Amino acid sequence: MKIAFVGKGGSGKTTLSSLFIRRLAAGRAPVIAVDADINQHLGAALGLDEEEAAALPAMGARLPLIKDYLRGCNPRITSAETMIKTTPPGRGSRLLRIDEDNPVYAACARTVPLDEGAVRLMVTGPFTESDLGVACYHSKVGAVELCLNHLVDGRDEYLVVDMTAGSDSFASGMFTRFDMTFLVAEPTRKGVSVYRQYKEYARDFGVALKVVGNKVQGQDDLDFLRAEVGEDLLTTFGHSDWVRAMEKGRPPRFELLEEANQQALRVLQDAADASYEQRDWQRYTRQTVHFHLKNAESWGNARTGADLAAQVDPSFVLDERALAAPQPA
Ligand SMILES: Nc1ncnc2c1ncn2[C@@H]1O[C@H](COP(=O)(O)OP(=O)(O)OP(=O)(O)O)[C@@H](O)[C@H]1O
Ligand SMILES: [Mg+2]
Repeated sequence: MKIAFVGKGGSGKTTLSSLFIRRLAAGRAPVIAVDADINQHLGAALGLDEEEAAALPAMGARLPLIKDYLRGCNPRITSAETMIKTTPPGRGSRLLRIDEDNPVYAACARTVPLDEGAVRLMVTGPFTESDLGVACYHSKVGAVELCLNHLVDGRDEYLVVDMTAGSDSFASGMFTRFDMTFLVAEPTRKGVSVYRQYKEYARDFGVALKVVGNKVQGQDDLDFLRAEVGEDLLTTFGHSDWVRAMEKGRPPRFELLEEANQQALRVLQDAADASYEQRDWQRYTRQTVHFHLKNAESWGNARTGADLAAQVDPSFVLDERALAAPQPA
């Protein structure tokens, strides 16, 4: 299951994704956690100290390796240089699974032990001022997008991405890559404005979007969110002393998280799990191709000097059967 946490800066994406990840890990599910947020804090939220977090390998710096592995012996992708973030898999491509060892995880993932269970953590790497212009920012998040486009995940295994709700993810199609998107919103006008924008994009692509209220303190906050987002409001988190203690570097055991917040996490997992029924690999593959053609035309062809539309393998569908096909050595 592919799950994204998005929302306005400071809304609590990192906090709620880290709690959700802890819950999944405590249930012994295989989990890959991905930090694709502009502010890279997921490692710290999962308990790494500054030095450990700084030592995490950046996916953005390992794009050539990622591309070379994923393209495998796909005859339509002749070099890593012509592979852009939206290049779809086809016959001969290497696919990823959540619970396996492969060179991409060996290079980009680190195991983070939690007080119950453990997760693999991958990070895009810190964003600098110049990244936020255009090109490099694309390439950093692009590493995540390539992995998502080559991932065949099953029920009861999870990839959880902490990410920004920036326009970048709309241009590339990143926002269509998830079984469930949790939009974290504080009960403020700014908090829900990001929801409106996201909803607009999501509608045309059948994106499953639920709003998770955060720092909700009573009936008035709840009424506000209900009035603004209606039935898209899934659940809410209140202020958490457990989170405050963690921020001070003294995380209590996870089982000591407040009962109301534990309950909200259960609601998130139930919603994520239920979205499996809506999964449609054909549509997923079609959308991959749609955004690839769009990106090829708007900048990819010019950038690479190749006709990137030719990378599309018309007979390929990303699903469990593709996984069963012989993979390149
Ligand atoms: N439910 C909560 N209870 C207590 N503190 C919270 C809660 N949710 C978030 N916080 C605190 O609010 C701050 C912002 O949260 P967080 O870093 O998770 O937001 P974010 O959306 O990831 O922000 P950014 O856009 O900067 O990445 C943090 O200091 C966090 O500890
Ligand atoms: Mg964050």
